[in-house]
Amino acid sequence: MDVKTLAEVAPRDRFTRICALTGAGISVAAGLGTFRGPDGLWTMSPKMERAMHVHLLPGNVDALWTVWGGMHDVAVRSGPTPAHKALAAAGATVITQNVDELHQAAGSVDVVEIHGSAGQARCLDEDFCGWTGPAAEAKRTDPPQCPQCGEPARPAVVLFGEMLDPVALGAARQLASECDMFLAVGTSGRVAPASWLAPTARAAGAYCVNVDLYPDGELDPAFHARVVGDAQDVLTEWAR
Ligand code: APR
Repeated sequence: MDVKTLAEVAPRDRFTRICALTGAGISVAAGLGTFRGPDGLWTMSPKMERAMHVHLLPGNVDALWTVWGGMHDVAVRSGPTPAHKALAAAGATVITQNVDELHQAAGSVDVVEIHGSAGQARCLDEDFCGWTGPAAEAKRTDPPQCPQCGEPARPAVVLFGEMLDPVALGAARQLASECDMFLAVGTSGRVAPASWLAPTARAAGAYCVNVDLYPDGELDPAFHARVVGDAQDVLTEWAR
Protein backbone atom coordinates (compact mmCIF):
# COMPACT_ATOMS: atom_id res chain seq x y z
CA MET A 1 0.00 0.00 0.00
CA ASP A 2 1.15 3.54 -0.72
CA VAL A 3 1.24 5.93 2.22
CA LYS A 4 2.05 9.62 2.48
CA THR A 5 4.61 9.55 5.28
CA LEU A 6 6.89 7.02 6.90
CA ALA A 7 5.55 7.92 10.33
CA GLU A 8 2.09 6.73 9.28
CA VAL A 9 3.27 3.14 9.10
CA ALA A 10 6.51 3.16 11.03
CA PRO A 11 6.61 5.69 13.86
CA ARG A 12 10.25 6.30 14.76
CA ASP A 13 9.96 4.88 18.28
CA ARG A 14 8.16 1.69 17.28
CA PHE A 15 11.26 -0.05 15.90
CA THR A 16 14.61 -0.52 17.59
CA ARG A 17 16.58 -2.52 15.02
CA ILE A 18 16.31 -0.57 11.77
CA CYS A 19 18.18 -1.69 8.67
CA ALA A 20 18.31 0.54 5.57
CA LEU A 21 19.08 -0.70 2.06
CA THR A 22 20.06 2.34 0.02
CA GLY A 23 20.53 3.03 -3.66
CA ALA A 24 21.45 5.93 -5.91
CA GLY A 25 18.28 7.88 -5.08
CA ILE A 26 19.50 8.80 -1.58
CA SER A 27 22.59 10.47 -3.06
CA VAL A 28 20.87 12.48 -5.79
CA ALA A 29 20.75 15.50 -3.47
CA ALA A 30 24.54 15.24 -3.17
CA GLY A 31 24.81 15.81 -6.91
CA LEU A 32 25.23 12.14 -7.84
CA GLY A 33 23.10 10.65 -10.60
CA THR A 34 20.92 7.60 -10.69
CA PHE A 35 21.44 4.79 -13.18
CA ARG A 36 17.96 4.01 -14.42
CA GLY A 37 14.87 6.09 -15.04
CA PRO A 38 14.58 9.00 -17.51
CA ASP A 39 17.86 10.76 -16.68
CA GLY A 40 19.76 7.77 -15.32
CA LEU A 41 23.37 7.36 -16.34
CA TRP A 42 22.78 3.98 -17.97
CA THR A 43 19.65 5.30 -19.67
CA MET A 44 21.53 8.23 -21.17
CA SER A 45 24.66 6.27 -22.00
CA PRO A 46 24.09 2.54 -22.68
CA LYS A 47 27.64 2.50 -24.05
CA MET A 48 28.95 3.53 -20.63
CA GLU A 49 26.86 0.83 -18.96
CA ARG A 50 28.33 -1.78 -21.33
CA ALA A 51 31.82 -0.56 -20.40
CA MET A 52 31.21 -1.51 -16.76
CA HIS A 53 31.59 -5.24 -17.41
CA VAL A 54 34.40 -7.18 -15.75
CA HIS A 55 35.24 -9.12 -18.90
CA LEU A 56 36.35 -5.86 -20.57
CA LEU A 57 39.23 -5.41 -18.09
CA PRO A 58 41.89 -4.01 -18.45
CA GLY A 59 40.68 -2.14 -21.55
CA ASN A 60 37.87 -0.37 -19.71
CA VAL A 61 39.90 0.83 -16.72
CA ASP A 62 39.81 4.47 -17.91
CA ALA A 63 36.00 4.31 -18.16
CA LEU A 64 35.85 2.89 -14.62
CA TRP A 65 37.82 5.85 -13.26
CA THR A 66 35.67 8.28 -15.25
CA VAL A 67 32.39 6.91 -13.83
CA TRP A 68 33.28 5.78 -10.32
CA GLY A 69 36.24 8.07 -9.66
CA GLY A 70 34.16 10.97 -10.92
CA MET A 71 31.25 10.03 -8.65
CA HIS A 72 33.52 9.78 -5.63
CA ASP A 73 35.04 13.21 -6.32
CA VAL A 74 31.52 14.73 -6.37
CA ALA A 75 30.59 12.91 -3.16
CA VAL A 76 33.70 14.10 -1.34
CA ARG A 77 32.99 17.70 -2.39
CA SER A 78 29.29 17.65 -1.46
CA GLY A 79 29.32 15.51 1.67
CA PRO A 80 26.40 13.52 3.11
CA THR A 81 22.80 14.64 2.60
CA PRO A 82 20.18 15.18 5.33
CA ALA A 83 18.79 11.72 4.47
CA HIS A 84 22.17 10.07 5.11
CA LYS A 85 22.35 11.98 8.40
CA ALA A 86 18.80 10.98 9.36
CA LEU A 87 19.68 7.29 9.00
CA ALA A 88 22.82 7.81 11.08
CA ALA A 89 20.83 9.69 13.74
CA ALA A 90 18.28 6.87 13.84
CA GLY A 91 21.10 4.40 14.51
CA ALA A 92 20.13 2.36 11.46
CA THR A 93 22.47 -0.28 10.12
CA VAL A 94 23.06 0.33 6.42
CA ILE A 95 23.43 -1.96 3.45
CA THR A 96 24.30 0.26 0.52
CA GLN A 97 24.60 -0.34 -3.23
CA ASN A 98 26.24 3.09 -3.44
CA VAL A 99 29.99 3.44 -3.65
CA ASP A 100 30.17 7.09 -2.52
CA GLU A 101 31.04 6.53 1.18
CA LEU A 102 28.39 9.11 2.18
CA HIS A 103 26.86 6.93 4.89
CA GLN A 104 30.19 6.69 6.68
CA ALA A 105 30.66 10.44 6.23
CA ALA A 106 27.23 10.97 7.84
CA GLY A 107 28.31 8.99 10.90
CA SER A 108 26.70 5.60 10.24
CA VAL A 109 28.96 3.01 11.84
CA ASP A 110 27.49 -0.26 10.65
CA VAL A 111 27.70 0.08 6.85
CA VAL A 112 27.98 -2.81 4.38
CA GLU A 113 29.03 -1.71 0.89
CA ILE A 114 27.80 -4.62 -1.20
CA HIS A 115 28.93 -3.03 -4.49
CA GLY A 116 32.30 -1.98 -3.15
CA SER A 117 33.63 1.55 -2.75
CA ALA A 118 34.90 4.19 -5.18
CA GLY A 119 37.03 5.53 -2.33
CA GLN A 120 39.11 2.37 -2.51
CA ALA A 121 41.21 0.95 -5.37
CA ARG A 122 42.82 -2.38 -6.28
CA CYS A 123 45.82 -3.41 -8.35
CA LEU A 124 44.80 -5.16 -11.57
CA ASP A 125 47.54 -7.70 -10.91
CA GLU A 126 45.61 -9.52 -8.20
CA ASP A 127 47.71 -12.70 -8.37
CA PHE A 128 51.22 -11.38 -7.73
CA CYS A 129 50.64 -7.94 -6.24
CA GLY A 130 47.17 -7.86 -4.76
CA TRP A 131 47.46 -4.28 -3.47
CA THR A 132 44.30 -2.60 -2.28
CA GLY A 133 44.01 0.77 -0.59
CA PRO A 134 42.69 4.34 -0.81
CA ALA A 135 41.88 5.36 -4.39
CA ALA A 136 43.72 8.64 -3.69
CA GLU A 137 47.00 6.68 -3.53
CA ALA A 138 46.47 5.22 -7.01
CA LYS A 139 45.28 8.57 -8.37
CA ARG A 140 48.61 10.19 -7.61
CA THR A 141 49.61 9.00 -11.10
CA ASP A 142 47.75 9.55 -14.37
CA PRO A 143 46.48 7.04 -15.37
CA PRO A 144 46.08 5.65 -11.83
CA GLN A 145 48.67 3.02 -11.01
CA CYS A 146 49.20 0.60 -8.16
CA PRO A 147 51.52 2.38 -5.69
CA GLN A 148 53.10 -1.00 -4.84
CA CYS A 149 54.00 -2.41 -8.27
CA GLY A 150 53.17 0.25 -10.87
CA GLU A 151 50.61 -1.88 -12.70
CA PRO A 152 47.27 -0.21 -13.57
CA ALA A 153 44.85 0.14 -10.66
CA ARG A 154 41.03 0.08 -10.76
CA PRO A 155 38.33 1.45 -8.46
CA ALA A 156 37.31 -1.23 -5.93
CA VAL A 157 33.73 -1.21 -7.29
CA VAL A 158 31.89 -4.42 -8.19
CA LEU A 159 31.48 -4.58 -11.98
CA PHE A 160 28.71 -6.25 -13.95
CA GLY A 161 29.51 -9.94 -14.20
CA GLU A 162 31.78 -9.81 -11.15
CA MET A 163 31.19 -11.76 -7.95
CA LEU A 164 30.27 -9.71 -4.88
CA ASP A 165 32.51 -10.04 -1.85
CA PRO A 166 31.02 -13.06 -0.04
CA VAL A 167 31.87 -11.54 3.34
CA ALA A 168 29.95 -8.34 2.50
CA LEU A 169 27.04 -10.32 1.13
CA GLY A 170 26.92 -12.51 4.24
CA ALA A 171 27.00 -9.43 6.45
CA ALA A 172 24.17 -7.86 4.44
CA ARG A 173 22.04 -10.97 4.77
CA GLN A 174 22.74 -11.02 8.51
CA LEU A 175 21.67 -7.38 8.95
CA ALA A 176 18.50 -7.96 6.90
CA SER A 177 17.58 -11.01 8.96
CA GLU A 178 18.20 -9.31 12.34
CA CYS A 179 16.21 -6.10 11.87
CA ASP A 180 12.66 -5.34 12.95
CA MET A 181 12.27 -2.64 10.29
CA PHE A 182 13.73 -2.86 6.77
CA LEU A 183 13.78 0.42 4.91
CA ALA A 184 14.69 0.40 1.20
CA VAL A 185 15.52 3.96 0.13
CA GLY A 186 16.19 5.27 -3.37
CA THR A 187 16.70 1.99 -5.15
CA SER A 188 14.91 0.59 -8.17
CA GLY A 189 15.35 -2.90 -6.74
CA ARG A 190 16.42 -4.10 -10.18
CA VAL A 191 19.80 -5.55 -9.23
CA ALA A 192 20.34 -8.86 -7.44
CA PRO A 193 21.39 -9.90 -4.88
CA ALA A 194 20.48 -6.56 -3.23
CA SER A 195 16.90 -7.07 -4.38
CA TRP A 196 16.74 -10.35 -2.46
CA LEU A 197 17.29 -8.64 0.89
CA ALA A 198 13.75 -7.36 1.41
CA PRO A 199 12.32 -10.89 1.17
CA THR A 200 15.01 -12.00 3.65
CA ALA A 201 13.96 -9.28 6.10
CA ARG A 202 10.26 -10.00 5.58
CA ALA A 203 10.77 -13.71 6.19
CA ALA A 204 12.55 -12.85 9.43
CA GLY A 205 9.55 -10.84 10.58
CA ALA A 206 10.67 -7.28 9.83
CA TYR A 207 8.27 -4.53 8.80
CA CYS A 208 9.40 -3.62 5.29
CA VAL A 209 8.93 -0.19 3.75
CA ASN A 210 10.10 1.18 0.40
CA VAL A 211 10.87 4.89 -0.10
CA ASP A 212 11.01 5.72 -3.80
CA LEU A 213 10.49 8.98 -5.69
CA TYR A 214 9.70 7.56 -9.12
CA PRO A 215 8.40 4.05 -8.56
CA ASP A 216 8.42 1.98 -11.70
CA GLY A 217 5.57 -0.51 -11.53
CA GLU A 218 4.04 -2.58 -8.77
CA LEU A 219 5.53 -2.62 -5.29
CA ASP A 220 7.65 -5.73 -4.60
CA PRO A 221 5.37 -7.99 -2.50
CA ALA A 222 8.09 -8.24 0.14
CA PHE A 223 7.19 -4.70 1.23
CA HIS A 224 4.30 -3.92 3.57
CA ALA A 225 4.14 -0.29 2.44
CA ARG A 226 5.67 2.29 0.13
CA VAL A 227 6.19 6.01 0.57
CA VAL A 228 6.37 7.77 -2.78
CA GLY A 229 8.54 10.80 -2.09
CA ASP A 230 12.00 12.35 -1.96
CA ALA A 231 14.25 10.51 0.49
CA GLN A 232 15.49 13.87 1.79
CA ASP A 233 12.00 14.93 2.87
CA VAL A 234 10.70 11.52 3.92
CA LEU A 235 13.65 10.56 6.11
CA THR A 236 14.26 13.93 7.74
CA GLU A 237 10.56 14.24 8.66
CA TRP A 238 10.55 10.69 10.04
CA ALA A 239 13.75 11.03 12.06
CA ARG A 240 12.67 14.35 13.61
N1 APR B 1 14.40 10.07 -3.27
C1 APR B 1 14.02 8.76 -3.29
N2 APR B 1 14.19 7.95 -4.36
C2 APR B 1 14.74 8.51 -5.46
C3 APR B 1 15.16 9.85 -5.52
C4 APR B 1 14.97 10.64 -4.36
N3 APR B 1 15.33 11.94 -4.33
N4 APR B 1 15.65 10.10 -6.78
C5 APR B 1 15.58 8.93 -7.45
N5 APR B 1 15.03 7.98 -6.67
C6 APR B 1 14.81 6.58 -6.97
C7 APR B 1 14.32 6.26 -8.36
O1 APR B 1 12.90 6.32 -8.39
C8 APR B 1 14.83 4.82 -8.54
O2 APR B 1 13.87 3.89 -8.06
O3 APR B 1 16.07 5.95 -6.87
C9 APR B 1 16.08 4.76 -7.66
C10 APR B 1 17.37 4.70 -8.43
O4 APR B 1 17.39 3.47 -9.10
P1 APR B 1 18.69 3.07 -9.91
O5 APR B 1 19.11 4.21 -10.78
O6 APR B 1 18.41 1.73 -10.53
O7 APR B 1 19.82 2.92 -8.81
P2 APR B 1 20.09 1.70 -7.85
O8 APR B 1 18.82 1.02 -7.46
O9 APR B 1 20.95 2.21 -6.77
O10 APR B 1 20.95 0.70 -8.80
C11 APR B 1 21.48 -0.45 -8.21
O11 APR B 1 22.74 -0.89 -10.23
O12 APR B 1 24.12 -0.39 -12.01
C12 APR B 1 24.06 -0.81 -10.70
O13 APR B 1 25.97 -0.53 -9.39
C13 APR B 1 24.81 0.12 -9.79
O14 APR B 1 24.54 0.14 -7.39
C14 APR B 1 23.87 0.33 -8.62
C15 APR B 1 22.82 -0.75 -8.82
